[in-house]
Amino acid sequence: MQNLNRRRVLTLGAALGLATVADPTKAWAWSSANSIAATDTITDPWSVWDDATDPLVASLLENGQIPAVNTAFAAWVNNGDPLPAGLPANLAAYLQQVNTLPSWADPAKLARAAQFNKRMSMYLFLLYGLGSGIMSTVIPREARNVYWSAGGAEMQSRAAKTFTYGYDLAALDAFLPTGHFVVTSNKTRLTHAAVRHLLPQSPQWRAVTNDQDFIPISNGDILVTFHSLGTFVFGKLKAWGIKISAAEEDAFLHQWQVALHLLGVRDDFIPASWAAAKQQSAYVLTPIMAPTPEGINLADVLLGLVAQVDLGVTKGFQREFARYLLSDKVGDWLKLPRDLISRSVIELGWPTYVAFREGLSPIMPTTFSMFDQFVRGLAMLFLNNGTSPSYTPITIPTGNRAA
Ligand code: HEM
Repeated sequence: MQNLNRRRVLTLGAALGLATVADPTKAWAWSSANSIAATDTITDPWSVWDDATDPLVASLLENGQIPAVNTAFAAWVNNGDPLPAGLPANLAAYLQQVNTLPSWADPAKLARAAQFNKRMSMYLFLLYGLGSGIMSTVIPREARNVYWSAGGAEMQSRAAKTFTYGYDLAALDAFLPTGHFVVTSNKTRLTHAAVRHLLPQSPQWRAVTNDQDFIPISNGDILVTFHSLGTFVFGKLKAWGIKISAAEEDAFLHQWQVALHLLGVRDDFIPASWAAAKQQSAYVLTPIMAPTPEGINLADVLLGLVAQVDLGVTKGFQREFARYLLSDKVGDWLKLPRDLISRSVIELGWPTYVAFREGLSPIMPTTFSMFDQFVRGLAMLFLNNGTSPSYTPITIPTGNRAA
């Protein structure tokens, strides 16, 4: 782990609603007793990648087979679809093994998670899109990897592909034969394996990364990203006072546990409870957040994409909302311009908007329709991407960003 300032970590963690119990100057000490595997061992997840997938994808890349795989994958969309024709035999054999839910997946919990996602959908678009999306730009490894991989040069398409994942996860039939999520996860897992092979060959990435010998996207890195998504969103929903039953809390975590498994994270790293997830987040996510030139650029590009659509609020408001979600520390790192009038509107109006919307308060704030247009507009922005003819399928890259 990088050298850390404990005070900074505590302040930032509190602002993001993430737990900060761990002393980040200490080595990895998250016991797998609190994982799905429940083995009382301590293994560093930054030294674990994806042994089942990485050599296979490396050989497909070396043999020039990936373009044909991407073509075949275009017809492979639903979880219940047979594997497409024309795949190399070793890839087909691999997919036969992994294209399935883990034995511990609980269909009832996954169904409950789907209903919960539907009930929370407006908040989820906002939190995943404007919260987790921008947070990913202050996770240094992720920002550098995304910037210097092929997709970094085409952020609109990359954002659309990433949204495909979120949309497929949140769909009512995500894990059912008619849903897409298992297939989308497998394509993502293969994409990550390709990045592990390709990015170390990028001279630009090697020049900027502070861990030259480190293979990208370890299990530890994926856990970091999970906490910037699931753990962050869960923490915000709770902090906003939204009523969530114990069964819903459990189901929301379970959907992420299955998602992590499908991305190739070992069961002994997957937290078994929200308490364990928060404890792990304190180790893996909060201490490592920092600005990078790549992340500052990516945040600017992402916020520019959001500003392209009319959300009924100014650009200044959108940037202040990102600050409100992620803290001014993060906003300052990303050099997001200030708009203090919008900020006071948000600080006063958002809690009352949520309280009224959730039936926790009878008082409708005067700014209700403005917030409503904002969250609905963001939802439409993402939904249009997920359902429009320009829906962008995930494809495995064959190179890196040129410059
Ligand atoms: C690609 C999701 C973790 C770096 C993708 C894609 C998805 C995705 C859906 C395919 C879309 C695309 O090609 O742009 C996730 C999820 C994660 C995770 C759900 C964890 C829960 C990470 C981490 C890193 C990372 C930890 C780096 C530290 C990348 C890169 C690409 C990619 C570089 C390829 C972009 C390209 O094609 O050039 N990821 N990811 N991801 N991901 Fe991840």
